[in-house]
Amino acid sequence: MFYELVVCMVILMIWSLWRSEKSDVDNLPGPPRWPIVGSLPIFLGLNESEIFTILTGFSKEYGHRVRLKIFNSNVIHLYDPKDIEIVLTNSKNITKSKGYLFLKPWLGTGLLISTGTKWHKRRKILTPAFHFDILKNFARVFEEESRALVGDLRARLQRGERTLDVMAFISDYTLYAICETAMGIRLNSEISAAKSEYKKAILGIGQAIYRRLTRFWLYYDIVFYLTPTGRQFKKHLEQICFFTNTVIEEKRKKKNETESSATGKRRMALLDLLLDAESKGEIDMEGIRDEVNTFMFEGHDTTALALTFGLMLLADHEDVQEKMFEECKITFGDSTRTANTSDLAEMKYLDAVIKEVLRLYPSVPLIGREITEELVLDDLVIPRDYEVIIHIYELQRRGDLFPDPEVFRPERFLNGDKTNFSYLPFSAGPRNCIGQRFAMQEMKCMLSEIVRNFKLSPIEKGYRPSIKADLVLRPNEPVLVKFSSR
Ligand code: HEM
Repeated sequence: MFYELVVCMVILMIWSLWRSEKSDVDNLPGPPRWPIVGSLPIFLGLNESEIFTILTGFSKEYGHRVRLKIFNSNVIHLYDPKDIEIVLTNSKNITKSKGYLFLKPWLGTGLLISTGTKWHKRRKILTPAFHFDILKNFARVFEEESRALVGDLRARLQRGERTLDVMAFISDYTLYAICETAMGIRLNSEISAAKSEYKKAILGIGQAIYRRLTRFWLYYDIVFYLTPTGRQFKKHLEQICFFTNTVIEEKRKKKNETESSATGKRRMALLDLLLDAESKGEIDMEGIRDEVNTFMFEGHDTTALALTFGLMLLADHEDVQEKMFEECKITFGDSTRTANTSDLAEMKYLDAVIKEVLRLYPSVPLIGREITEELVLDDLVIPRDYEVIIHIYELQRRGDLFPDPEVFRPERFLNGDKTNFSYLPFSAGPRNCIGQRFAMQEMKCMLSEIVRNFKLSPIEKGYRPSIKADLVLRPNEPVLVKFSSR
């Protein structure tokens, strides 16, 4: 093993030395580079939170195009809407950057990381699962889960639990919602038991993948799986797959039971579509599991994080809570019903609040592409085999694009100004978020129901948790919010 490692290192060094720095792109500003290892030393020994701080600090130090070279990998970090538009709307460069490869044992050929014809085919199969009519059917689930969430909060208040770690609490409900909508499975007590293990495993696997990304010696499978991080990764993966396999089998059973009674043409939920594609030979069981793993993760963790940061910001801004409450009063009058699709479409202030939460805390803070066909950014040619990283988090906090960028001010989204490519929480172009409308509807339903029923306050005014580098934008410490009944 040691011998193989040394051979790989020597090949990398020769390649790195041989490749001379000749083009404009090589001369872009960026952190100091040393021979062979490039900028690797600046990351060594840092924890996940320090890495996040370094990555987000690049643009302040080096401008809106930053070059990072580590060994022979060349990555251009982008922070400018014009450059970002060119990358995201390019229909040829749709391959995710190399770092996503470490997600492969988990998400396989699922929609998030697949590419080429496989991605095209899968996106075509799955797009109908997010059709407007399907989302209308999901509204009932969002309403039920929002009511259950409020009921749970009330019960906790009665038990004297006023202060909650909101992420741990809210992610239960976003997980129930994705299971019941996209998967068509209501978590019964047997599956629910595996739920907590699943949530813990998601946290663990994200950290293991990030550790791997930032420690070059873990890049090789043969080394990685011998380390404690690699062994933990494997354990978490088994737990995750246990949960998703149970959901698939439940659905298969249910589908067989109801098959004969189904009449006419109906719009199908995501897992129905996948099982249907399986019966036509368009996908196999492994492909189904990859998609279920992808959607289960993307479909619950992202929304739970946005709601967590949202509740934190609202707790700190009583005035915003009051404006939301006023809007609820106008929409519902004396009725206690939960918001339906048309109510949500009317609630413009709620929409602006969620947009502003996602501006400050985009659940997916950065995305990457591998340049498979030379790409021209105005005056700059990015050669093949380079990678680009788009910094959504930093872009949306640029003072020239969003005045007082650190201030939580939903009003900036009220006048309907086009933000073009300066606001991209759901990305854009062919590989944008397929679940965007699903996510907005779910978050609006849950947030409005909470604000109608409770007043929120912070533990410490103005406190913001540090963020750690992860697959998603994760707080480094629990986000605690105080609840009291209205
Ligand atoms: C606040 C919530 C959400 C945010 C901020 C968000 C953001 C994003 C972003 C930025 C991407 C592009 C990723 C990349 O290029 O690497 C993406 C892709 C994706 N998202 Fe979301 N997402 C959210 C919720 C959801 C939900 C609820 C689902 C599913 C129900 C979902 C499913 C996906 C999938 C499958 C992709 C890959 C699409 C493709 O490449 O064709 N997301 N999301």
